[in-house]
Amino acid sequence: MKILVTGGTGYIGSHTAVELQLQGFEVVIVDNLSNSHADVVDRIEEITNIRPEFHQFDLIDREKTKSFFAGHPDLDGIIHFAAFKAVGESMADPLMYYRNNLDSLINILQGMKDNGLKNLVFSSSCTVYGQPDELPVKETSPIKEAWSPYGNTKQMSEQIIRFAVEAYGLKTIALRYFNPIGSHDSALIGELPLGVPNNLVPFITQTAIGLRQSLNVFGSDYDTPDGTAVRDYIHVVDLAMAHVVAVNRMISASGKSDFEIFNLGTGNGFSVLEVIKSFEKVSGESLNYKIVGRRPGDVEKVWADTSFANQELGWKAQKSLDEMMGSAWKWEQALADKKSSNKH
Ligand code: UD1
Repeated sequence: MKILVTGGTGYIGSHTAVELQLQGFEVVIVDNLSNSHADVVDRIEEITNIRPEFHQFDLIDREKTKSFFAGHPDLDGIIHFAAFKAVGESMADPLMYYRNNLDSLINILQGMKDNGLKNLVFSSSCTVYGQPDELPVKETSPIKEAWSPYGNTKQMSEQIIRFAVEAYGLKTIALRYFNPIGSHDSALIGELPLGVPNNLVPFITQTAIGLRQSLNVFGSDYDTPDGTAVRDYIHVVDLAMAHVVAVNRMISASGKSDFEIFNLGTGNGFSVLEVIKSFEKVSGESLNYKIVGRRPGDVEKVWADTSFANQELGWKAQKSLDEMMGSAWKWEQALADKKSSNKH
């Protein structure tokens, strides 16, 4: 079985490529390397002993995407990760987000339609729920008005897919991720934010390793037990495994409908201060942080109702918060070791 992984050298894509190969799938990666490095392909090979096929081009290029699909009529499934994902950046340049995230999806759907390909797994996000009225949030909870162009591209993508599924007889599973963190056990692949990280966990590990002076905790006046915002953090390998399950479900036609949606989280909410405490415990480091005002656009609290994904997919996230923080720290330390050995 051959699976196209777009964005396969990125954070979640690379971990998914590994799990697919370990389970016997043949992986073809397309990535424009806008936020990742070509040597991730070497690392995937190092972990699995199999080198995935790799194509470097931009999926917003209609002609290149068309000829790629024409040359790969034997794909059994597509997992589409390739997209921009920074909330703040999307506020500053919305058109860049709409063009990138929507054009690439449309070109992929066109390639599927033209070549009779059926199965698509789409990377969606809990951002589509905004601040839900009820927690934990279910897949059936209403989609709220988007808080950012990034979030809006995820909402619009789900709608585009829904109509394409109906019109062209496709099968799709949209996976709504909560907050993916951590890295592969081997510490050979992980999250590699370019520049100053936006997300909490890379900022924590970079502060602890000395790349940043201090972490800002955004807001302590939320309506939560300790006043800091609450999220559902999920280990990236748990998340990657859910993609393998989703692909198998589509290939074996065991889904309940042609367009399914699943929440991927652990079902547990942790506050920013709890995440910091967990990090300090597992690393033995004391983190330099200070409480500052809220970050614009942040929701107060969100965590998943995972019962539908657990029952239907037969999948459940396994890793605890401490394990997630431990693996994020191991990865940051491995990066630092690599940097210092390159210098010598
Ligand atoms: C956001 C998006 C999510 C997207 C993800 C990936 C929303 C609501 N969420 O998640 O859809 O997939 O980015 O980019 O649009 N924090 C600090 N200090 C920091 C950084 C973060 O206190 O330096 C806090 C935040 O205020 C938040 C929590 O940590 O409460 C998690 O933040 P972050 O890791 O950026 O993820 P989200 O904003 O939840």
